Amino acid sequence: MSTTTATAPAHQPQPTEDFLPLNGTDYVELYVGNSRQAAYFYQTAFGFQPLAYAGLATGLKDRESYVVVQDKIRLVLTSPLKSGTEIGRHIDKHGDGVKTVAIWVDDARAAYEATTSRGAESYYEPKVHSDENGEVVTAGIHTYGETVHIFVERSKYNGVFLPGYEAWNPDYQPAPVGLKYVDHMVGNVELGKMNHWCKWYENVMGFTQIISFDDADISTEYTALMSKVMSNGNGRIKFPINEPADGRKKSQIEEYLDFYEGPGIQHIAVATDDIIATIKELQARGIEFLTVPDTYYDELNGRVGEIDEDVAQLRKLGILVDRDDEGYLLQIFTKPIEPRPTMFFEIIQRKGATSFGKGNFKALFEAIEREQERRGTL
Ligand code: FE2
Repeated sequence: MSTTTATAPAHQPQPTEDFLPLNGTDYVELYVGNSRQAAYFYQTAFGFQPLAYAGLATGLKDRESYVVVQDKIRLVLTSPLKSGTEIGRHIDKHGDGVKTVAIWVDDARAAYEATTSRGAESYYEPKVHSDENGEVVTAGIHTYGETVHIFVERSKYNGVFLPGYEAWNPDYQPAPVGLKYVDHMVGNVELGKMNHWCKWYENVMGFTQIISFDDADISTEYTALMSKVMSNGNGRIKFPINEPADGRKKSQIEEYLDFYEGPGIQHIAVATDDIIATIKELQARGIEFLTVPDTYYDELNGRVGEIDEDVAQLRKLGILVDRDDEGYLLQIFTKPIEPRPTMFFEIIQRKGATSFGKGNFKALFEAIEREQERRGTL
């Protein structure tokens, strides 16, 4: 039985006035144990390009950040330079993970006012940062767990990233792998909190729910989850929110919550225009993906119909396919990219489809359970 509901396609303008116009994801900041090595990893394995640096050499005493970029995706990798910092405490509690989902806006003060007046908890008040390249206004609010949103207004800035950062242009620059933009970012929240946070995105940020899944859609023998997808008015920001549902054994969401020690970002989905080329390259560079049983591909044509890609090639690479009313999508999920079984990446190519691969959830969860079994956390 399917209970999927689509209340409004993400790409259509919402009928009501958007009180929080958002231009897109500005950057994603991860707090990590070793920012220099993380930057090397994202360059080498994921094809990100060096962009900017802030640390001892720019006068910072407590932290170091490397910024890497691939098309529209910017990652900021930040580590502390001494003990007893907020960043160090965050890493001790959560392991490497996403601290900030920064959102590009035209007016950061208005975004802060619009959200805090609707109940958002302030992370920090609007701040003007300036250097010889102009000025940037930022302001922050808290969301689930210790994750924050920072609004970034950068129309009066032409520096490389943000004031305080210098260009980082090392000789070592492995080629990009074709990643284009952040398609969506998924949050895991505690049992019973999904609706709370969906309401929060609705009331505080003016998002609407575009899709929901319940355990009837996507449970396996052992594990289940509930998920709702929230989107802003122009569809450029999509945040699915998951909570665990009862299963016979520990769900992957509970496993995340246990190891992250609270709610947080579960995966960052990044888009490519050529998933076959991108995944070939990522696999050659050592990125490991979840795999599904071969039988998945035997049933593929019957389930999704005609597709442009060669199924033999998809099978070889482990790429999944799903179809909705508007088209189809191809997707694949990495294994967690840190010691704790917490955050991972999704690579997605959309060919018309605006959904999130519900048809793959069961095959995928069974793949995750095989990994959990191996970790002894099922
Ligand atoms: Fe996803």
